[in-house]
Amino acid sequence: MTTSAINIKKTPPVLRGRFPYLGYALELQRNPIDFLQRGQEQFGEIFSFLLAGSNVTFLTGYKANEAFFRAADDQFSQKEAYQFTVPIFGKGIAYDTTPDRMSEQLGFIFPALREERMQAYAGFMATEAQAYFDTWGESGEVDLLAAMNELTVFIASRCLIGHEFRQHLSTEFASLYHDLEGGINLLAFFQPYLPLPSFRRRDKARTRMVELISQIIANRRAKGNEGEDFLQALMNARYADGTTLSEDNITGLLLTLLFAGQHTSAVLAAWTGILLLQHPQYLPAIMAEQQAVFGNGKTFSLERLRQLVILERSIKEAERLRPPLIMLMRKILRDFEYNGYHVKAGGLAMVSPAVSHRLPECFRFPNSYDPDRFNPERAEDRKSTYALIGFGGGRHRCIGQAFAYQQIKVIWSVLLGRFDLELVHQNYEPDYTTFVVGPRQPCLIRYKRKYKSD
Ligand code: HEM
Repeated sequence: MTTSAINIKKTPPVLRGRFPYLGYALELQRNPIDFLQRGQEQFGEIFSFLLAGSNVTFLTGYKANEAFFRAADDQFSQKEAYQFTVPIFGKGIAYDTTPDRMSEQLGFIFPALREERMQAYAGFMATEAQAYFDTWGESGEVDLLAAMNELTVFIASRCLIGHEFRQHLSTEFASLYHDLEGGINLLAFFQPYLPLPSFRRRDKARTRMVELISQIIANRRAKGNEGEDFLQALMNARYADGTTLSEDNITGLLLTLLFAGQHTSAVLAAWTGILLLQHPQYLPAIMAEQQAVFGNGKTFSLERLRQLVILERSIKEAERLRPPLIMLMRKILRDFEYNGYHVKAGGLAMVSPAVSHRLPECFRFPNSYDPDRFNPERAEDRKSTYALIGFGGGRHRCIGQAFAYQQIKVIWSVLLGRFDLELVHQNYEPDYTTFVVGPRQPCLIRYKRKYKSD
């Protein structure tokens, strides 16, 4: 054997595309999960493919997920992979700064996620949900995703940005927000600055959004008002060198949070309900739990929401079967080894919660809806910290998971308490055309208001 033969390192098997440049881009755009699952069935936990000229190494299964999430920032970088967020979050914010600076910025948010704040949010969330569902009639049909989107914008604005912002929320804000979201798609991963109409609308919307939020900051400063919210935490925050955050920085971080948390929560709330209504045999236990926790008109509190363990399992099962973020990416900055395979720097690394969650290595009958898999006896997600990754893992794990779960618990507690609900369509399929993967619209549910027999 020659020396050069000994030095040849094994590279991951390649899933070949039919078109030399585009690779599997079209197929991936149409149904990424089918595509990635096919690769997993053929090659197992690591393979690569060409996507719009970039080499993507796909890792799946809890061991490979762990390697992905535990890689250092200077080896697997989010920054390069998430450049499409820079036109939305802004210069010098999150993925447009160093990982250390980004951690420092995210650290400003922790005071707003403390226990006493979460307690206050429980009340705000309930007030918003009750007011929102008051606007529904006696009976009718609604698009569940559209409704969840509207409601979670109200809740996020109230809890994250505060009372005045919630009051200032206008149709204009909703439409700007919609335009910002329209700038997030697979193409934006690779070419976020192409002269496309959707990217132009995104940029225009951000400029206006900065104006709106800056006005609110300025008003608060002028009046000397203090709020119990993220905005106040950011207004009070200081970088390590003592400097305060500029209004543009504050706006950018608020957009980062709104963006990270609002649509994802709406989508998970919608899937939670759709899956439950598709499997109504799980409803009686949830209703009994509701009665036990909120019977005799008890109000929402953090403590009571924590007691909703059966409802929580159904949210977790929705997270498993329909994770809102189906693909997480990193740019590979340094060569890395996994299980005897050598991957060169320069390409992208990807994990997929949607693919991983359907592997039988952790989850029994992984394609079946079975919230009881999370009960204390079975605890299938405990097999590995990297089995259930709907909120990511490692140092970049989501900071808003508790907030999201709390919010979804409130929404479904209010909905199930007030209405009898049923599905309208036969099927509710995922819509892969958007970055956060919700049910394809229209996704109608039918509601009928309940009356208490007293
Ligand atoms: C159902 C709702 C949510 C889902 C499914 C979700 C999912 C995720 C995932 C998968 C990541 C990791 C991304 C990666 O590794 O590339 C992440 C990170 C993050 N999430 Fe969430 N999230 C949700 C709600 C929220 C909320 C409500 C907030 C804020 C209040 C939030 C703030 C963040 C932030 C700031 C990060 C970046 C953390 C870092 O890189 O250090 N998320 N989220």
